[in-house]
Amino acid sequence: MTPTRLPDPSADEIALSKVLVATIVDELRTRDGFMPFERYMELALYAPGFGYYVAGARKFGRAGDFVTAPELSPLFGACLATQCAATLTTLGGGHIIEFGGGSGRLAASILRALATLDALPKSYSIIELSPELRRRQHAYLTVEIPELVSRVTWLNGPPATPLAGIVIANEIIDALPVTLFRAARSGVTERGVGVDADGVLVLRERPASRELEANVAARQQAAPAPWPESYCSEINHRQRWWLADLEHFLARGVVVLADYGYPAAEYYHSDRSEGTLQCYFRHRVHSDPLWYPGLQDITAAVDFTALADAAVDAHFQVEGFAEQAAYLLSLGVTERLAAHSGGSDLRRHQMTQAVKTLLLPHAMGTRAKFLVLSCDYAGPILGFTVRNDLHRL
Ligand SMILES: C[S@@+](CC[C@H](N)C(=O)[O-])C[C@H]1O[C@@H](n2cnc3c(N)ncnc32)[C@H](O)[C@@H]1O
Repeated sequence: MTPTRLPDPSADEIALSKVLVATIVDELRTRDGFMPFERYMELALYAPGFGYYVAGARKFGRAGDFVTAPELSPLFGACLATQCAATLTTLGGGHIIEFGGGSGRLAASILRALATLDALPKSYSIIELSPELRRRQHAYLTVEIPELVSRVTWLNGPPATPLAGIVIANEIIDALPVTLFRAARSGVTERGVGVDADGVLVLRERPASRELEANVAARQQAAPAPWPESYCSEINHRQRWWLADLEHFLARGVVVLADYGYPAAEYYHSDRSEGTLQCYFRHRVHSDPLWYPGLQDITAAVDFTALADAAVDAHFQVEGFAEQAAYLLSLGVTERLAAHSGGSDLRRHQMTQAVKTLLLPHAMGTRAKFLVLSCDYAGPILGFTVRNDLHRL
């Protein structure tokens, strides 16, 4: 449902969205009027020139639509840098690959921390789908870390040749297009997008394929309590492809995945009968994915149980799973905050508030989680001394 009080997009933004809607309507004609939601989400977020992550929307930070952990505090990146340093040292050098570089803040804070630890990688590659974000990241890093920016390279997709090192993906899996379903007494339907007689995009349903039906049945059987009569949720099929890509290029090393999500038993709980889809526009959250396609972010929470299963199938070792608060506390975030006690009272207050947002349960502390994987790696895995919740998966 769209809340009634979303800010109005500008005329230029509305014009961009209309072009994307026209593209979707054109494609609907070739699809007998039904577009699977997974394809709709792909176009809304990544259609060349018009998708949310590809067009010029501000996206990250206070002037954008949402704030991610690395935007809040450089201490997030400094904590992750300790795992980077441990992995690079174990491997006798290596590379860092970051998926979806955001504004460039995570790369800047990790590289700065690694320079202090004298543990810089051979290269730091950002896999960035958006040419516009790539330009923004380059400009930011040139100003923030001029002495290190030459180590950063940008890629359009996963590296072509195998390498050793560490992969970092913060809030990437929740941006992968998902399949939507409804399980009802009458059967399972796939939810998707159609267009009404006035040319307006609407949600539509069609009977599920055998494969989707089986996938839904497996989740329903594993749920801790019976689902209500009409139960809507999502399945992320693309995370398997994403991990298969990782398996091909990461010969040795560690993968650090951070995202909003739940173990399967919580994800597919009977209480969560409307699914986890959320849309972000200028810091307002709502659940209507059809509102001005291309102008808002669309995310679905991560099923960490399915993600860990897919990782095992892709021959990774699943090393640890923890809520963000436990992970960052294990990596000494509060000690790092104390060490930054210089600066003005205002600056200290801002840093403390940012760390509170990273750690407090009602903010990011328990909703965001870390899953750490490894392949052909016997070195230290950090971040799980406070707790390792692998048993929850
Ligand atoms: C919510 S943003 C997170 C950005 C950044 N990691 C941060 O934490 O600020 C999601 C990002 O995932 C990126 N993304 C989605 N699928 C991707 C893929 N297959 N390869 C690389 N980036 C991807 C999007 O382009 C977008 O920049």
